[in-house]
Amino acid sequence: MRLDRVWVTDLRSYEEAEVQLAAGLTALLGDNGEGKTNLLEAVAWLATMASFRGAPTEALVRRGADRAVIRAEGEREGRSILIEAELVASGRNRVLVNRQPLKKARDLLGVLRVTVFSPDDLELIKGGPAERRRYLDDALVASHPRYDALRSEVDKVLKQRNALLKGAGGRLDENAGFTLDVWDAKLVEAGGALASARRNLLARLAPVLAETYAAVAHGPAEVTADYVADWAEAGLAAALGAARHDDLRRGVSTVGPHRDDVELRISAMPARTHASQGEQRSLALALRLAAHRVITEVTGSAPVLLLDDVFSELDPDRSDALLANLPAGQTLLTSASGLPPKARPDLVLRVADGRIAADVPEPDAAGPS
Ligand SMILES: Nc1ncnc2c1ncn2[C@@H]1O[C@H](COP(=O)(O)OP(=O)(O)O)[C@@H](O)[C@H]1O
Ligand SMILES: [Mg+2]
Repeated sequence: MRLDRVWVTDLRSYEEAEVQLAAGLTALLGDNGEGKTNLLEAVAWLATMASFRGAPTEALVRRGADRAVIRAEGEREGRSILIEAELVASGRNRVLVNRQPLKKARDLLGVLRVTVFSPDDLELIKGGPAERRRYLDDALVASHPRYDALRSEVDKVLKQRNALLKGAGGRLDENAGFTLDVWDAKLVEAGGALASARRNLLARLAPVLAETYAAVAHGPAEVTADYVADWAEAGLAAALGAARHDDLRRGVSTVGPHRDDVELRISAMPARTHASQGEQRSLALALRLAAHRVITEVTGSAPVLLLDDVFSELDPDRSDALLANLPAGQTLLTSASGLPPKARPDLVLRVADGRIAADVPEPDAAGPS
C-alpha cells in the first residue's frame, strides 16, 4: 500500500494544501504549530475514521468552515486507488473510494491502513489499561475490519447491561433478572470472542515486540507482554455470575473484557512503574512497530507508517537505531528540530504559513550516500 498524493481543503490549519509523497521515507519539517501533525492526522483519518489525537472529527474542520475534505491517491494491491472523504462539522461524513460512494462510511476501514506513533503513545506504558486495550483493538481492526463490528457489539452490550444494572437500583425483579441473563449471555459470547482475539494477537505480537524493542533500545533487554483478565480462570460466564451481586450494588459491570489489561515488563519489571522514561518511550515505539509488522504479515501489505515527532522522543542513539531499522514500505515522519545526521529521506517537505513545499535535501558533510 502506498500513497502518492494527499490533498486537503479546510482541514485544521490548511485552507488548501497538496503534497506528493515518496514511496519510501518522506520527512515533514517545520516549526511547532505549523501543521505537521494536522497532515498526519488527516492521512490517518482516512484509515481509521478517527483522530489519533482523540479529537472529535469536527475539530478537523478548519475554524469558520463547515466541512473539510481529505483526498489521497495511491496504489493498493497493484491497483490505483483514490479515497475522498468529506468531514462535515455537523452531519454525516461522506466517503468515496474510486469515486464510488460507500454504502456505509465504516466500509472505509481496511481500505487504507496506517500505523501511527506519536508522543502521546507514552500513555501506552504510563496510562491506564484502557490505552493498552485500545492498542490491541486498533491492531485487530487493522488486521481485519470485522473486529470493528465485534468491538462495537461488546460496547453496545456493556452499555445496555450497565443501564439495566443502574436502573435496577440494587434489586432485580424477575423480569429484570431475565433480561440480565440475556445480556450476560451476549457478553459471554461477544466479550469472550474479543478477549480471545486479543489474546491470540498478543501471542503473535509478543515475540516481535521483543525484537522491535531490542532494535529501538539499541541493546538487549527481555520484554514481555501478557494479557491479564481477572475472569480468565473462572471463565466469563461464571465470573459474571459471581460478580452479579456486586454489579447490582455498584450499578456497573465490574467484570469483563472492558477491564482487561496488558502487562508489559522489561527485564521482568513492570514497565509502568520501574522503567526509565527513555525505556518507556522506546517500548511505546516498539509496540507500534510490532503491531506494524504483525499487521503487515496478516494482511500481506505494509501499512503506511506515520511517525509524529519521533526524534523528540528518542535520544540520538535510539533515533539512529530507528532509522536503521525502519520497516520496508512507506514512512511519513515529522520533526520540528531537523533530522538526525544519519537520516536519508527520499523527500523532504517543509511546512510553513499553511503551505507545504518540497525541499531539496541539504547535502551533508559526508557527501552523497
Ligand atoms: N480546526 C482548526 N481550524 C484552524 N486551525 C486549527 C484547527 N485545529 C488546529 N488548528 C491550528 O493548527 C495548529 C497546530 O498544528 P499542528 O499540526 O498540531 O502543528 P505541528 O506542526 O506542531 O504538528 C495550531 O496552530 C492550531 O491553531
Ligand atoms: Mg505536532
